Amino acid sequence: MIFWYEPHPAMLDSAKLSDVDDLAEIHAASFHRGWSPAEIEALLVQDRVITVVLRRSSPFGTRSPIGFVMVRATADEAEVLTLAVNPRHRGKGHARRLMDEAIRRLYHDRVKALFLEVDEGNVPALTLYGRLGFLQVGRRGQYYAAPGAKASAALVMRADLT
Ligand SMILES: CC(C)(COP(=O)(O)OP(=O)(O)OC[C@H]1O[C@@H](n2cnc3c(N)ncnc32)[C@H](O)[C@@H]1OP(=O)(O)O)[C@@H](O)C(=O)NCCC(=O)NCCS
Repeated sequence: MIFWYEPHPAMLDSAKLSDVDDLAEIHAASFHRGWSPAEIEALLVQDRVITVVLRRSSPFGTRSPIGFVMVRATADEAEVLTLAVNPRHRGKGHARRLMDEAIRRLYHDRVKALFLEVDEGNVPALTLYGRLGFLQVGRRGQYYAAPGAKASAALVMRADLT
């Protein structure tokens, strides 16, 4: 007998407090300085912080996050606090879906512009943000310092949510 297994697509969801350990793990695998579960929780509970996760969905009930984005709104502007996808699940459009959903929610909340900072050497992120319509509006030299490496600059980018 042949069993045909078709993986279920990942599902968008709002982050729960029970996700913080998984989110810290994804963050630590994605950045030089990871955020602790407590740091993530402190942001998650803030009123104007939106945290969207993508959950791996399976017929066996697994629902652990494979990527997430955090954005914080102040008045009618917002900033991306972090965006990360588990290295094993990259290149499948997950970050694009996360950003699209965060932007949809911000637009619904009448936010007009979204800002972010990105390492000028981060090609995957820069390509993604370019496709989403972000434009460079500033540059901060020697902004990201990694142990044993030369500090790199941050580009400040902005997208109008129309
Ligand atoms: C940046 C990151 C979030 C992208 O996640 P992802 O799920 O792999 O991205 P997607 O599959 O949704 O790709 C979306 C677009 O980004 C671009 N992209 C993604 N990976 C890329 C790569 N390795 N090289 C070039 N472009 C890339 C492509 O334009 C892609 O769209 P396309 O496939 O239609 O051309 C992921 O690489 C990551 O977590 N990196 C470490 C953390 C980080 O740098 N976060 C951003 C900080 S500002």
